[in-house]
Amino acid sequence: MITDKIKHQIRSIVGPENALDSDLDRFGYSYDSSYVPLRPENRPDLVVRPLTAREVSSVMALASEHEIPVTPRGAASGRTGGSIPLRGGISLCLDRMTRIVELDEGNMMVTAEAGVRTIDLYNHCAAKGLFFPPDPASWKFSTIGGNVAENAGGMRAVKYGVTSNYVMGLEVVLADGTILKTGGKALKNVTGYDLKSLFTGSEGTLGIITQALLRLIPMPKKRGTLQVMFGSLEEGCATVHRMLQAAIVPAAAEIMDRFSLEAVAKYRGTSLDPTAQACLIMEIDGESDEALASQARQIQAVAEGCGALAFRVAQSQQESDELWAARRGLSSAVASLAPTRLGEDISVPRDAFPEVVRRIRVISEKYGLPIAVYGHAGDGNIHPSILCDLGNPEQEKRIHGAVDEIFAAALAVGGTLSGEHGIGITKQPYITQALGDAGIKTLIAVKKALDPKGILNPGKIW
Ligand code: LAC
Ligand code: ZN
Repeated sequence: MITDKIKHQIRSIVGPENALDSDLDRFGYSYDSSYVPLRPENRPDLVVRPLTAREVSSVMALASEHEIPVTPRGAASGRTGGSIPLRGGISLCLDRMTRIVELDEGNMMVTAEAGVRTIDLYNHCAAKGLFFPPDPASWKFSTIGGNVAENAGGMRAVKYGVTSNYVMGLEVVLADGTILKTGGKALKNVTGYDLKSLFTGSEGTLGIITQALLRLIPMPKKRGTLQVMFGSLEEGCATVHRMLQAAIVPAAAEIMDRFSLEAVAKYRGTSLDPTAQACLIMEIDGESDEALASQARQIQAVAEGCGALAFRVAQSQQESDELWAARRGLSSAVASLAPTRLGEDISVPRDAFPEVVRRIRVISEKYGLPIAVYGHAGDGNIHPSILCDLGNPEQEKRIHGAVDEIFAAALAVGGTLSGEHGIGITKQPYITQALGDAGIKTLIAVKKALDPKGILNPGKIW
């Protein structure tokens, strides 16, 4: 419970206009981009929008003193309920912390506050010929703090890795208000525990990330987009598999099944080849047009060897942008097909990708539920999306059965529950199965050491 006196103290830290408690504001901060249903009890008591790490620190010191739950939040683009306040208290929204503090071209690193949008960071660096690769589908509105907290992935992970591969250092406000700076610009660093990696992907449960120092790489000079249509999803999977085995690594290799293609066509009002059962969209990059043309030829040969129906190289930036916009909007398009879309995020060893897709098809038939399959085929991170109606009691058992079996399938082939969305609320029931008792005990020991009062994003992960 936040008393009027505490509210007053918080208002004097962040300014009255940045501590909101109207019903409308509290409602607005009670949901995110996951399918967690709206619940009145998930409303924060107070929404706090600090501008500096010092303000975050003062707010946390108060929260710690009074044992007030604090749920950090960026742009609420998360898919697993990470920024939903489950115990009331404070929704600590970092969206005003939008400064790009430094672009160090010599060391190829950038320092950005938590609220900087991914695409703004990308463009800022690109203007100097530098490349920040992690590009979650939501990159037009997701923020750096959230990306780090969730260890966001994206399309380009197949060639360039995920957010954690770029985090060099962090500024984190701990549960008691202490400001911790960890890591730095030295490329090699084994001085003490690797705390920046501990906080990366910690889903707001260990500290509030206020600033990140991120590594950059030189921007590739040329980029191209390819689209390949297939008569079966299996052929699309086989193409990705054979391509990677032949050491042809595109910057992105995204697969969509027939449901996904239909969803896009409906959403965007476009037509669709009736024989197409799957589509691969790929980004290729390199230093010259010749290098790109050679990669495209190699990929075409592999795809045709796997039975591709049609192969297309985008002829203009506009065509390429349209293809990627369709892909980035896919989860919204799929969501529009049914009252509920349970979008999962399993991640499996690359060579198990075709097998897990086959198992998902079997699960879909067994439970009589359509499951759209799309995702980051190049790195084995797939988003099986169950199209259903959670409000329909007749479906409830089947939905749970299908979700259980999807996770079991991922674990059975050596995969994991989440590649890039985190555990949050939605995957909690499965985490012991994934990590084992010793794994969970270790997580809890770390949590207790860093957040002894349990005020940071309570109710998440386990
Ligand atoms: C995507 C999001 C859901 O890949 O991760 O579209
Ligand atoms: Zn994704």
